[in-house]
Amino acid sequence: MMKNRFTAALLATALLMSGGVAIAEEESFTQWWFSPWRHKEVQPVANKVWNEECGSCHLAYQPGLLPTKSWEKLLTETALADHFGDDASLDAETLKEVRDYALANAADKSYHKRSRKIALATETGDAPLRISDVRYIKRKHHELPEKMIKGNKDVKSLSHCNKCHTKAEGGNYDNDTVSIPNYPDWKD
Ligand code: HEC
Ligand code: HEC
Repeated sequence: MMKNRFTAALLATALLMSGGVAIAEEESFTQWWFSPWRHKEVQPVANKVWNEECGSCHLAYQPGLLPTKSWEKLLTETALADHFGDDASLDAETLKEVRDYALANAADKSYHKRSRKIALATETGDAPLRISDVRYIKRKHHELPEKMIKGNKDVKSLSHCNKCHTKAEGGNYDNDTVSIPNYPDWKD
């Protein structure tokens, strides 16, 4: 009896550790696992101004999808005047509010699982200006054929997370919540 229990405990530890390797990417799994603030997925947006100002042209991306250094570049007066070819200018007060919100909730300030991965993937190197350019995000989609993304009239670009991630607005990007428009059988 005692022996069985001991074996079970060993097995559980081994499983935990092998799972850890898969989950961790480069981060120490124990660091993440034992953090009392560990959370799933990405922190949902909890700022009205952000939702209104940054959700009018596309999904109001969660600040936890990019690191601080990216938001610092994206959220300036000059950067927003030419925001991926669009004018997304804000008055000074609104800009301060959205910028402060993004900097306080950026990937590297978050204990949410996906944000941790994004923070790690962007720790070194230039600040990405697109979430879809983050190594971790690219890797998660590299097997998807172009016809399902760019060639898909109801998606058009990987930037439009919510076209496929049905719970993206709530910060959930889990595989189980994916549905690709026009490709109901994409998994086969
Ligand atoms: C006037 C329309 C407009 C507004 C307002 C706007 N954006 Fe954008 N945004 C765009 C366009 C256009 C793109 C490029 C999309 C593409 O390439 O398909 C983009 C792309 C982005 C991307 C990169 C997405 C990716 O991973 O490819 C981020 C991040 C982003 N916007 C953040 C914001 C934030 C934060 C705000 C609020 C301060 C904001 N946007 C407001 C039009 C807008
Ligand atoms: C063309 C549809 C499509 C678009 C657009 C898209 N994704 Fe995905 N995403 C997928 C698919 C398909 C998977 C993998 C599902 C699987 O393997 O079961 C995935 C996987 C992921 C994962 C890994 C989930 C997991 O459980 O490991 C993350 C994180 C993710 N996407 C984030 C994003 C973000 C952020 C955006 C927008 C910048 C985005 N995706 C845009 C289709 C899409």
